Amino acid sequence: MLYSCAYFTEWHNDIDRAQHDKLDIGCGWGALICHAAKNYGVSARGVTLSQEQYDRTQTRIKEMGLEDLVTVEIRDYNHLDGTYDKISSIGMYEHIGLANIPGYMQKVKHLLAPGGLFHNRAIARRTREKGRRLRFRAEHKAILKYIFPGTALTDISHTQQAMEQAGFEVRDVEGWREHYALTCRIWCERLYAREDEAIVLVGEPNYRMWVAYLAGVSLSFTRGSILIYQALASHGRESVTATNAGGLIYLALIVAL
Ligand SMILES: C[S@@+](CC[C@H](N)C(=O)[O-])C[C@H]1O[C@@H](n2cnc3c(N)ncnc32)[C@H](O)[C@@H]1O
Repeated sequence: MLYSCAYFTEWHNDIDRAQHDKLDIGCGWGALICHAAKNYGVSARGVTLSQEQYDRTQTRIKEMGLEDLVTVEIRDYNHLDGTYDKISSIGMYEHIGLANIPGYMQKVKHLLAPGGLFHNRAIARRTREKGRRLRFRAEHKAILKYIFPGTALTDISHTQQAMEQAGFEVRDVEGWREHYALTCRIWCERLYAREDEAIVLVGEPNYRMWVAYLAGVSLSFTRGSILIYQALASHGRESVTATNAGGLIYLALIVAL
């Protein structure tokens, strides 16, 4: 189970295929770390704040026989230790708070071995035009209140600058908004198709809120009023080769030894 943007190598691919292509095997529900261990033989560690995600990931690890390679913990990223060759964070950066971005970058850099790679993917807002104040429209306020309390988006220039200020070298930045527009549209259609089941599970107000959110956010990505980027940065000045970049996979703060 994944709940971040899929990557469509072909626009007609179905969403399950697209999730596989992006190798988003995130700590959320443990898909990324298990995929990484199974297919690339890495030792992977995942962290989440959710008990349900932790339990599901433990089950997945056992079912796949990956106990020697994969560990998962309930732990805040601030309390991580160790040294890792690759660190990836998907869909978590939005939750850390703008004031914590410099500390987050420093923490990741501290955990990364020299020559290591850091992959960060997050929804972003547009850069404000000079002189314009940041305004929150009603739909943004509703999302903050009902869907993702406590989240804060920044723009990609700020993220790149924060990476560089922490001492990373930015190697690549890719915009994914069309992919998230399609991901959210498909999620919305799937939810709508199972309306009765969803209402039994979460009640009608919640169901309606999520249908409206997914439809609206899909439109926002299509129009470019919100954005999503993944950025790849290296620790140190070693050249990034096909070999050391190849093992990079994506996770919601998952670290691969
Ligand atoms: C939107 S989910 C993305 C999950 C996964 N990457 C995916 O693509 O499906 C965000 C994840 O970040 C985790 N998270 C949020 N804040 C965190 C923190 N301070 N430390 C560690 N994990 C955190 C959540 O528990 C959740 O697993």
